[in-house]
Amino acid sequence: MIKDTINSYYNEAKSLRQAIHQEPEIAFEEVKTNQKIRAFLDKHQISYVSGIAKTGILATIEGSLPGKTILLRADMDALPMDENPNNPFASKIPGRMHACGHDGHTAALCLAGATLNQMKSELKGTVKLLFQPAEEADGGAEPMIKAGVLEGVDMAFGAHLWGSSPSGKVYFKKGAMMASPDNFMVKVKGVGGHGSKPQVAIDPILIASQIVIALQTIVSRQVSPLEAVVISVGKMHGGTAPNIIPEEVVLEGTIRTLNNEIRAEVPNKMKNLVEGIAKSYGGHAEFTYLPAYPVLVNNADVTDIAYNAARNFLSPDQIEFLEHPDMGGEDFAYIAQAVPSTFMYLGIMEDKPISHHHPDFHFNDKHLKILSELLVQCVLEANQ
Ligand code: NI
Repeated sequence: MIKDTINSYYNEAKSLRQAIHQEPEIAFEEVKTNQKIRAFLDKHQISYVSGIAKTGILATIEGSLPGKTILLRADMDALPMDENPNNPFASKIPGRMHACGHDGHTAALCLAGATLNQMKSELKGTVKLLFQPAEEADGGAEPMIKAGVLEGVDMAFGAHLWGSSPSGKVYFKKGAMMASPDNFMVKVKGVGGHGSKPQVAIDPILIASQIVIALQTIVSRQVSPLEAVVISVGKMHGGTAPNIIPEEVVLEGTIRTLNNEIRAEVPNKMKNLVEGIAKSYGGHAEFTYLPAYPVLVNNADVTDIAYNAARNFLSPDQIEFLEHPDMGGEDFAYIAQAVPSTFMYLGIMEDKPISHHHPDFHFNDKHLKILSELLVQCVLEANQ
């Protein structure tokens, strides 16, 4: 019954996905994507509010029977990169690509919405469809929450297509599922001079090098070995010539944690270490912590609901609880922090692993059916 309804709207959802894929838009610029979603919702007579956090949409489907208010969330944004032009229905916009599958999340949420809307007369509770901008940068979920999209919401579900897992397999995780992807910057200031006379200079390159190495001792010596923390320096800039000691070196990097208490402590430990090292060499360092999304923590009860929902239509070998979290970040974390929620992965790997954020990223449209059915089943299971 649900499958038939999904099948009847599948071609429409597939066209929507391909149209969004060909015209990708990055964070907070999802204007045409917003128009495409609205055209779909209009056609299905689903009411919505648009323009929340610039390009976000909140659609509402009122069931005829009393029940809980369930929010289903999709992200809409693409990435600032070129797509391999040989991919099927490749991006027509230079420097823009849906390389993470958010086009699929959006189309699958539309397909789930059309299906739930068709079931309205027998549907319990209210379903909210949240299309959010800017998952990849700046966190579009946060301004949408500030605008009130979670008011009255009892629980929320979200999912991500997952390139390293087998096609059609759904993964669940209770507790921490994804890391907080915070960033940091360190400005190391020394005293410049001639490379042949280091004794009259203070070398910020040497200080920065000591800092890069010492930062790893926070992970190994200052945090419990049972806690996962990653500190990676991804940028190191300084100097202009082989024989000049520069005035300044700038380091930038990322801090990943899976526990909000550890997350709060690590930047202070880094600041102390960075400032202390610079001082001990006669230099000066400024540490700047750039917080991003919180740790994504799934509610255990809502995760059980999602697991049971998947069991309603998938075989046992297609459903799995993850043993370990992922050190990547996901701004669904803001939603999960505000209301009981769970996030899921749906595998899309057919013959070899698919890398997200890669010019060759591509997934088969058939996954829209599984993802939409999963979301529909979550709504039904939540109101059991
Ligand atoms: Ni993504």
